[in-house]
Amino acid sequence: MRDEIEALAKAALDALARAATAAEVEAVRQGCLGRKGTLQGVLRAIGRLPPDQRGPVGQAANAARAAVEAAAEARREALRGAQEAALAETEWVDATLPAPPEPRPRAAGTLHPVTTLARQVEDTFLRMGFEVLDGPWAEDEWHNFTALNIPPDHPARDLQDTFWLADGSLLRTHTSPVQVRLMENRPPPIRAVCIGRVFRQEEVDATHENTFHQVEGFYVDREVSVAHMLFVLRTLLAEILQQEVEVRLRPSYFPFVEPGFELDVTFRGRWLELLGCGLVHPDVLRAGGVDPGEWSGFAFGMGIDRLVMLRHGIEDIRHLMGGDLRFLRQFASGVEG
Ligand code: FA5
Repeated sequence: MRDEIEALAKAALDALARAATAAEVEAVRQGCLGRKGTLQGVLRAIGRLPPDQRGPVGQAANAARAAVEAAAEARREALRGAQEAALAETEWVDATLPAPPEPRPRAAGTLHPVTTLARQVEDTFLRMGFEVLDGPWAEDEWHNFTALNIPPDHPARDLQDTFWLADGSLLRTHTSPVQVRLMENRPPPIRAVCIGRVFRQEEVDATHENTFHQVEGFYVDREVSVAHMLFVLRTLLAEILQQEVEVRLRPSYFPFVEPGFELDVTFRGRWLELLGCGLVHPDVLRAGGVDPGEWSGFAFGMGIDRLVMLRHGIEDIRHLMGGDLRFLRQFASGVEG
């Protein structure tokens, strides 16, 4: 029986030496010394031995129990030490290393290329002594059409088909209504520009959007001529385009100017219409309460989106309002912090 006890103890000691975790150590210990453990079974058999053998076998069993208990404790200690050493290895800090990089600052938004250009146009006009003003997107018929010499049955209304709102107002089809609003609000002389969004029920293609932007220029003073207008437009285009472009001025018809012109620039081997302009029609001055016998003026309306296309070589206007970040990120130079 002593041999059996020694064999059980040796098996437990071998298993403890192989145990890789504290849980395995405990399992081996229980398997040997626990209530249903191998050594416990032997101990229960001692009572059936002849009295003279009980003493020595009991001693051997106690010695085996103590040895297994001690080995289990030692193994647990060894495993804990190894674990701490591994932790210390990963937590080790070299205080002489440069600091890790700061987390990336949250990316700032970028200015839309139309906004960037609109601001440059504003700056140019402010330097020439113009005011910069705003007008409403939702206009009434009087300001968008009638006061601009476009009566309700006039075919020019067809050229600027619009979106009507439930209350009878409409989304402005051009920035020209601010001409009338300006005259209603201040006496001449007037030098002002208005930059903003306009809307048209339009057949959309590479150069036509249904939502785009215009800058309206409006100048009223005494004895204003086409020469004044051309000077202002030349100054504007030279500042904004900063590249050699061929420009063409041709007579055109807008009910609110007389004479009227359109200005085109070359773009990708074709003429691109950039703006309409002319001397303010006497009827428009009258509609704004200004005496055409005393005052005259010029006005122009330029498409900003087309100017952006020209500047960046964008082949399709639909990219601009398309909202595709892959397109917009290419203009990140206009970042505002
Ligand atoms: C007008 O809107 C007039 N109000 C301009 C004007 C003002 C003339 C003052 C005389 C005096 P027009 O419809 O041609 O005119 O548009 C003016 C410019 O807006 C065009 O030259 C073009 O550059 C731009 N534009 C017009 N329609 C579109 C469109 N669908 N998409 C993008 N740009 C457009």
